[in-house]
Amino acid sequence: MSAEALLFYSAVDDALAWQRGLDALLPGIEVRIAPEIGDPDEIGYAVVWKPPVGFFRPLRQLRLVTILGAGIDSMRNRTDLPDVPVARLSDPAMARMMAGYVLFAVLRYAREIPEFERAQKREIWDYHDPRDPASVRVGVLGLGELGGLAATELARFGFSVVGWSRSPRSIEGVECLAGTAALPEILARSEILVVLLPLTTETTGILGAQEFALLPRGAKFINVARGPVVDEAAMIAALRTGQLGAATLDVFGTEPLPPGHPLWAMENVLITPHLAAVANPRTAAAEIAGNIRRLRAGLPPLHRVDLARGY
Ligand code: NAP
Ligand code: GLV
Repeated sequence: MSAEALLFYSAVDDALAWQRGLDALLPGIEVRIAPEIGDPDEIGYAVVWKPPVGFFRPLRQLRLVTILGAGIDSMRNRTDLPDVPVARLSDPAMARMMAGYVLFAVLRYAREIPEFERAQKREIWDYHDPRDPASVRVGVLGLGELGGLAATELARFGFSVVGWSRSPRSIEGVECLAGTAALPEILARSEILVVLLPLTTETTGILGAQEFALLPRGAKFINVARGPVVDEAAMIAALRTGQLGAATLDVFGTEPLPPGHPLWAMENVLITPHLAAVANPRTAAAEIAGNIRRLRAGLPPLHRVDLARGY
């Protein structure tokens, strides 16, 4: 019997740490790090983050592709992907990390931290009563594995949370609305808007000038999904006029955000370099290995994504 191998590719993750983690859990499978492919016909499994165009072409014996994250937009419109199941990560530790980031960003606005930072620079003791969280209306677009937990945690902190998904959802403590027709209502009710939608054909550019105009004036905007979900020029215009009061942005149309990009210099924008939730081999390697063991045992893989739907 020929050797069986797994090919790992990511330009941003610690490939050696993933190799060690997967190796320990998959005896009998050699874990290789691209571009050291070896014999391509031995590769049955690929674990990838944003693989370059043509990456899959030599892998004729591939049986499963695992995306090293939650978003599968890098798999859109590929001509090199064979007809094999594609799975995403579904790691509770990743969902917790995202919920932590979203809580931080929402609390920062709800507790007016940017204003106190400005006051401190001017040595002003700017006391005013903190707002009751129940009076702060937060909208969460996308109620999936990450958005659902973020909405739950926001509700647990006492915020008034309204969430939005494609199909009807039910989350304790969160008012859930679904479908395109409900979007204007959610926007009109969101003093703080959190975006956790996948990037699909339907969601590309879903938030533009019209949608920003529907938000209450001065609304705070938090995008932890994907840059192209938003019309970036319209967002910048809304941040300049004050229609958007401030934004916390972890994702951008072009990453890394290029030097000289207008967002860098905007005082009402907090920028983080796409790390709201990252995959960690300590927790996620076991899930990936478990799925491969399922496949080897003749069972269908878990957390399979629907490439046509886009998530
Ligand atoms: P998910 O489990 O696939 O859930 C997606 C949610 O969005 C679902 O609730 C879905 O509705 C909803 N949705 C999709 N298309 C919609 C549409 N056209 N209109 C309304 N709702 C729609 O995704 P997830 O795991 O929560 O992750 C969300 C996204 O976060 C990922 O796709 C990725 O792009 C991003 N992300 C970013 C980071 C970071 O570090 N910044 C890290 C991880 C993930 P249904 O419930 O009806 O299906
Ligand atoms: C990160 O952005 C992910 O989609 O996991």
